Amino acid sequence: MTSRVCKVWGNLKMHPVSEVLSAYQALIAADKDGMFDHFGLVVPYPYLQQASELFNGSIGIAAQSISEHESGAFSSQVSGEILQDIGLQTVMIGHSEVRQLGVNVGAQLKVAQKLGMHVIYCIGEGVEAYESGRKEQVITEQLSVLESLDRVTIAYEPIWSIGTGNAASVSDINEALLMVRACLDRSFSGNFPETPVLYGGSINHNNCLEVFTQTEVNGFLVGGVSLKPKQILEVIRLCS
Ligand code: PGA
Repeated sequence: MTSRVCKVWGNLKMHPVSEVLSAYQALIAADKDGMFDHFGLVVPYPYLQQASELFNGSIGIAAQSISEHESGAFSSQVSGEILQDIGLQTVMIGHSEVRQLGVNVGAQLKVAQKLGMHVIYCIGEGVEAYESGRKEQVITEQLSVLESLDRVTIAYEPIWSIGTGNAASVSDINEALLMVRACLDRSFSGNFPETPVLYGGSINHNNCLEVFTQTEVNGFLVGGVSLKPKQILEVIRLCS
């Protein structure tokens, strides 16, 4: 038993997930212990409506990105208004796989926050910054575009750990958490509710407990393993 709540978000990335969603639904329907009370899925756009209907509020559902534009003639993009129109209130912003497309993360945050949406804001340094000791600089720059901490969850995801099987060490994560807290404290003068900070990057049922008990993370953003609902349940079980 751990004493604090472990929030787990599964990022389903760009995978066809009809069967995965059904498997989650079966596990959640069979669950009598509230194991999924602090669980959510970050779902590819075409499945958002299906997921909302399937889970009907029993877990969190988030979109994987949002247009930096509020509305208008922007074919292929999905605005915050569209997400809210289908009943969604949560969006992940700043995932490194989205940042590499050259999106304007600051503008995306602005539109989401203007609409009052919950944001999972991903930050994290690449391998070059990590190796050259510029981790704090990158984290500080990425956090500097946040204008408000209302309804914000931070996800610290060093890029070199995502999808590599090489999770960051407990000391790397603790160091990043201190940097994040110090930066938020400077920017928001300590005048913010306890902003949750998650860790993401190669989390699985073998390493989650060590990270959760030896750091102060509030939970995890899980990629690859989220395609395996039974393994996610194991992660949740170990950390609850
Ligand atoms: P991973 O992905 O768990 O497969 O490393 C994490 C993420 O991209 O959020």
